[in-house]
Amino acid sequence: MYLKRTFVVLCTVLVLGSAAFVDNIPKCGAKDTDCHRQSFQYVIREGSKTGIPEANIAPFDPLELKQELNIPIRDIVQLHFGDGVVKGLSKCVINDFVTNVEQGKASLDITCNFTVKGHYKANSSSPVIKSLLGGESVHGDGRVKIKIVKLNLKLDFDFIVDNRNGDTYFKRKGNNIKFKYDVLGQVMFAADGLYLGDRDASELLTNMLNQNWKLVMASVGDDIMKDSMGAVEEFVRNFFENVPTKYFITDDLTPYASN
Ligand SMILES: *[C@@H]1O[C@H](CO)[C@@H](O)[C@H](O)[C@H]1NC(C)=O
Ligand SMILES: *[C@@H]1O[C@H](CO)[C@@H](O)[C@H](O)[C@H]1NC(C)=O
Repeated sequence: MYLKRTFVVLCTVLVLGSAAFVDNIPKCGAKDTDCHRQSFQYVIREGSKTGIPEANIAPFDPLELKQELNIPIRDIVQLHFGDGVVKGLSKCVINDFVTNVEQGKASLDITCNFTVKGHYKANSSSPVIKSLLGGESVHGDGRVKIKIVKLNLKLDFDFIVDNRNGDTYFKRKGNNIKFKYDVLGQVMFAADGLYLGDRDASELLTNMLNQNWKLVMASVGDDIMKDSMGAVEEFVRNFFENVPTKYFITDDLTPYASN
C-alpha cells in the first residue's frame, strides 16, 4: 500500500516536474520583440539553476567546462587551461532578442559578468619575453581566476520554421552563429604558481596582465571566444530544436513552415 502510494506520488512529481519548465516560459506574440527579450531572460535566469530537461540542457550556473584549452600566443607563450568552471550565466542581461519569422533571422544581444576559475600551465622561453623581463624565462603551474566585467556578446543566426508531428519548431539553418564581442568593463586576473626563473613572481606578473588586459584580450580573446561559441551553439540548437514554438510564441507559425 505504502509502496504503491509512494510510486504514484513519485510519478506525479516526475511528470509535473519535467513539464514545469517550458510551461512557465512567458509567451509572446510573434512580433513582440520586447516580450521575446523578457522570455529569453526567463529561460537564462531560471534554466541556469534547474536546467531545461525537455531540451537536454543541464543546469549552467556554475558551468563546468569539459574542454581543455591550449593557447599558443604566437611563438611567445604556451598556455594550457583545464578544469574550468564559469560562474555568472544566470545573471546575464538580455539587451535585445529579435526573431524575425518572415526573414528567418534571429539576433541576440547579451551582457554578462563572468568569473572563470581553473588550472593553468604556462611557459615561455621566448627571447622577447626574456629581454623584457631581465633575461629570465617564465613558467607557471597553478590556479587562475579571471573576472570579466560586462562582456557584451552579439549573435546572429538564421533559422527556418520546421513542422514536425503537428508542432512548429525553429530549426537553425547553416552551421555557424555569427558573433561579435566587446568587453565594456574590464578583465582582472589572479594566479598563483607563476615563476620568473626560479622566483615566484605571481603578483608581479598578474599585475602586469591586469594593467595590460586589453592587449591580453586582443591576443587571446578571439581564440577563447571561438572555443566558447561551441557551447553557445549547442545551447541554441538544443533549446530550439526540442522546445516547440507554442511554448514561447502564441501565434500559429504553420503558415511560415518550410515543410
Ligand atoms: C556587472 O558588474 C557591474 C560592476 O560590478 C555592474 O554594474 C553590472 O550591473 C553587472 N551586470 C551586468 C550584466 O553587467
Ligand atoms: C610548454 O608548454 C607546452 C604546453 O603545455 C608544452 O607542450 C611544452 O612542452 C612546454 N615546454 C617547456 C619547455 O616546458
